[in-house]
Amino acid sequence: MEALLPLRFTGFSVLVLDQRLLPREEKYTEYFDLEGLYESIRSMELRGAPLIGIAAAYAMFLGVKNRSFPNQAVLLETVKKNAERLNQARPTAKNLFWATARLVRLVERNIGLRVDEIIDRMRAEAVRINEEDVEICRSIGEHFLTVLKPGMRLLTHCNAGALATYRYGTATAPMYLGQERGWNFRVFVDETRPYNQGARLTAYELHRAGIDATLICDNMAAMVMSKGWVDAILVGSDRVAANGDAANKIGTLNLSILARHFGIPFYVATPTPTLDLELPDGNHIPIEERDGEEITHFLGVRVAPEGIKVFNPAFDVSPHENITGIVTEKGIAYPPFELSLKALAEKTGPSGNG
Ligand code: MRU
Repeated sequence: MEALLPLRFTGFSVLVLDQRLLPREEKYTEYFDLEGLYESIRSMELRGAPLIGIAAAYAMFLGVKNRSFPNQAVLLETVKKNAERLNQARPTAKNLFWATARLVRLVERNIGLRVDEIIDRMRAEAVRINEEDVEICRSIGEHFLTVLKPGMRLLTHCNAGALATYRYGTATAPMYLGQERGWNFRVFVDETRPYNQGARLTAYELHRAGIDATLICDNMAAMVMSKGWVDAILVGSDRVAANGDAANKIGTLNLSILARHFGIPFYVATPTPTLDLELPDGNHIPIEERDGEEITHFLGVRVAPEGIKVFNPAFDVSPHENITGIVTEKGIAYPPFELSLKALAEKTGPSGNG
């Protein structure tokens, strides 16, 4: 089965798989400029923290490609403005801010080169960020396999899968590697209301890959755990603070509380570009609020009364005390996370971060 690629760089444009149409249709749209990719991220045509970072890196290149700049200073000014623009697309995923800052730093470091040479390096850096993601996810998968056993029953939430990265996903990486090695994991997939990333995306990609996946509604997670049917919970993350508090899709907090209640290991997959060690704890993580129609309507049909008040936060924060381990590409951090995350962040690894 061909790998499901959520995005493809052609050298002068980016093809984006429209995730809003999945699982009904696999349709790619081609973008040639920054604004197109900005809108693609904002509208959730593409989503998932690592993929947002990759798209933003390409957008930084497309934002200056084929434009003429009188000198390097004007180029740098434009690159900084473009970063600010892209950073407004979505507020929670750290990878977006990490990727745009990495491109700004690259231009600053190479300011002595000719303008066309700097732009060429921006293209190469965006490609590097994209390629690193594959290594990061594979590595996360390998670390996961050191704490999992063949035949385990796993539970995941939202889509921290191949569709949220370039390959393998983060929380799903051990599922794909496990499949290559005949580990026969069985996976419960939370539907993930209100945007249904679990039902539409994770169920789709795992099923397509032939992994044993069972879809459940979010409010069934406690029941399957109470039956003893879940050996470990694996989720992704959008931003992780210095103390290990982890923001991920709304509903992850519930799972972390349930995991603690039932004594089930709760692992958070976190590429180091998702770490935000400048934030002391999860209270400082910006949480996106989305349109109430995601709750009042289902498939375009109103399912709640006109005029009802709606609260629709897209993410919540699982407190560090509920987390068994934070699985990065450089190893697994265990409590106390202040120390272990800092040590891992300083280690060299495939993210160009070390
Ligand atoms: O709103 P989304 O779909 O971008 O949210 C995605 C998630 O919360 C994922 O779990 C997270 O980004 C990790 S993806 C490897």
